[in-house]
Amino acid sequence: MKAPKEFPCMFTHVQISEMVTRIARSIEKQVPEEEEIVCIGVLKGAWIFHSDLVREIKRPVSIDFVKASSYGNQMISSGVVRIEKDIETDIQGKHVFLVEDIIDTGRTLKFLKARLSEGGAKSVSLVALLDKKVKREVDCDADLVGAVIEDKFVVGYGLDWAERYRTLPDIHFVPEDYAK
Ligand code: IMP
Ligand code: MG
Repeated sequence: MKAPKEFPCMFTHVQISEMVTRIARSIEKQVPEEEEIVCIGVLKGAWIFHSDLVREIKRPVSIDFVKASSYGNQMISSGVVRIEKDIETDIQGKHVFLVEDIIDTGRTLKFLKARLSEGGAKSVSLVALLDKKVKREVDCDADLVGAVIEDKFVVGYGLDWAERYRTLPDIHFVPEDYAK
């Protein structure tokens, strides 16, 4: 699928793949050789990033998913995070990486990190491909970030606008006048 011509490209798939590689190397470095890595993708937006990232990590990795929602079909967060699907993995004693497409207000990751931290993991790290730092409303920072971006609504590479545009290979932004 091609992006509408009004949506400028923010990151090409080549640039995204460089971010993925850099994050994978950091994860390999962070976890001692004999210890276990679990990568938990936050559905749905992170599914492509998660699948690229786990294949780039040159170590055994267990995978799982969690589904949380704070957005509904809107471009702005409702502020309330709900769990729609929980993890099924025993994370006790393992190094958990919570893999998210984008961190905006920070509510989703803060909520999910708090929940996962109760599961007895050896460590819980937050990984976000994109970080809208200027939009943060709660105290929550990702440990590993692909790129910090300005306050623009982005689509592609898993990210949607009301369920559309997830399958675009590159990341584009939706111009403000287009969204109205
Ligand atoms: P937060 O809880 O406000 O940090 O919201 C994070 C979630 O909102 C992400 O997992 C995305 O699903 C969604 N989101 C935030 N910004 C964007 C965007 O620019 N495009 C698409 N989804 C977004
Ligand atoms: Mg998401």
